[in-house]
Amino acid sequence: MNTIKTYIKKHKQRFIDELIEILKFPSISANSDYKKDVLITADFVLESLKKAGCDIVEMCETPGYPIIYGEKIIDKNLPTVLVYGHYDVQPADPIELWTSPPFEPVIKKTAIHPEGAIFARGACDDKGQMYMHIKALEYMTSTNNLPCNVKFMIEGEEEIGSESLAWFVPRNIEKLVNDVILISDTGMIANDIPSITTGLRGLSYVEVEVTGPNRDLHSGLYGGAVANPINILTKMIASLHDENNHITIPGFYDNVEELSTEERAEMAKAPFSLENYKDALKIEDVYGEKGYATNERNAIRPTLDVNGIWGGYTGEGAKTVIASKAYAKISMRLVPNQDWKQITQLFKKHFESIAPKAVSVKVIPHHGGQGYVTPIDTIAYKAASKAYETSFGKTPIPQRSGGSIPIVALFEEHLKSKTILMGFGLDSDAIHSPNEHFGIWNYLKGIETIPYFYKYFTELNATK
Ligand code: BES
Ligand code: MN
Ligand code: MN
Repeated sequence: MNTIKTYIKKHKQRFIDELIEILKFPSISANSDYKKDVLITADFVLESLKKAGCDIVEMCETPGYPIIYGEKIIDKNLPTVLVYGHYDVQPADPIELWTSPPFEPVIKKTAIHPEGAIFARGACDDKGQMYMHIKALEYMTSTNNLPCNVKFMIEGEEEIGSESLAWFVPRNIEKLVNDVILISDTGMIANDIPSITTGLRGLSYVEVEVTGPNRDLHSGLYGGAVANPINILTKMIASLHDENNHITIPGFYDNVEELSTEERAEMAKAPFSLENYKDALKIEDVYGEKGYATNERNAIRPTLDVNGIWGGYTGEGAKTVIASKAYAKISMRLVPNQDWKQITQLFKKHFESIAPKAVSVKVIPHHGGQGYVTPIDTIAYKAASKAYETSFGKTPIPQRSGGSIPIVALFEEHLKSKTILMGFGLDSDAIHSPNEHFGIWNYLKGIETIPYFYKYFTELNATK
């Protein structure tokens, strides 16, 4: 297998050029103006899978954006790896904060990526990471190094909640049968500290609407006498955390999985510098739930955050007005055992109950999903760990992430298989932010590591 390094060296420029091509499509799933671009991206992925050696490729229609399916089955008795990824991206705004246009990829050097990083929306999340798998497949098929069967399932709605995939999976259980699901859509600690993501948080996303008077009012004539929905909404939101930053929704913590002292001690061993963390974000201090460390607060603890809040007059100058309505979008990150649908209900009930009679409240649930924890005593994890040992020369650290890929829990429910999260991005890669980028080194390291996973997974399965 030492040929993977040689193969990458030889094809490096083409690998980069191809990624740049796919990054030029603004495949923003959230905005229907980009529908054509999302569909063009789907075609690009399908063609890439064909060229990389899949025997079957299909554009699977769904109620939403198509799912691209590909497979190469070499022997029914060998294990099957199912690769998942997404070709859609987050909106690029605020566009004015990008130092180069989000869909005109350019390579720039950074302090963390001295060899250069590709700057573009989707570079890391998830086009770059998804494409690593297609290039790893190309290597394995073209050099006769594919040791087992492989299936691909690449969707176009991850960033908006994977609704169509949730529809597709239970309808295609036979087609998707596999021994392990492999995903690169997370990150690692640092380029010299490889880690494997062993957990994802669940999610409940809601929108709230507070209505006061039936029309906007003169804030002088009516101010003080009627409820101001913005004042009320902000007060209600503020009351959702207590002085210790615990969430005040009754029942919210009921099913939260509490980690043992040993497990927390194990977690604390992962390298983490609070000083660097604060420095990278230019903050004087961190902030969060009392009794937990920073890397616990953002991984093993549930949270509630306002993602957006609006209402009233926000244009130039001043306008004296009491708005009729105020709105907010709120996300709750959940941990294993918390049921996202139940949490959504608890939120709704509580939020409605704390509203004064002077306003009416609507809670509109959006998407959500369950958290996920992957065991580390499995063949799949051991194979992944060995793969990193081979390509990085270091044993990867298992680490739970705070992000969410809600479809992973659904995969387990329907397909009964575990997921391995081999992410090669860094927290500083600015996913979902302006100037998202993906290190060239990371991109190539991913392509190098993936074939080793296939090799060790097949070998370990043969000797079990
Ligand atoms: N790839 C991310 C999730 C992620 C990133 C997990 C880094 C762990 C580390 C994914 O595309 C994403 O953004 N998920 C959304 C949820 C989705 C339902 C919109 C999220 O976590 O906000
Ligand atoms: Mn992603
Ligand atoms: Mn994302």
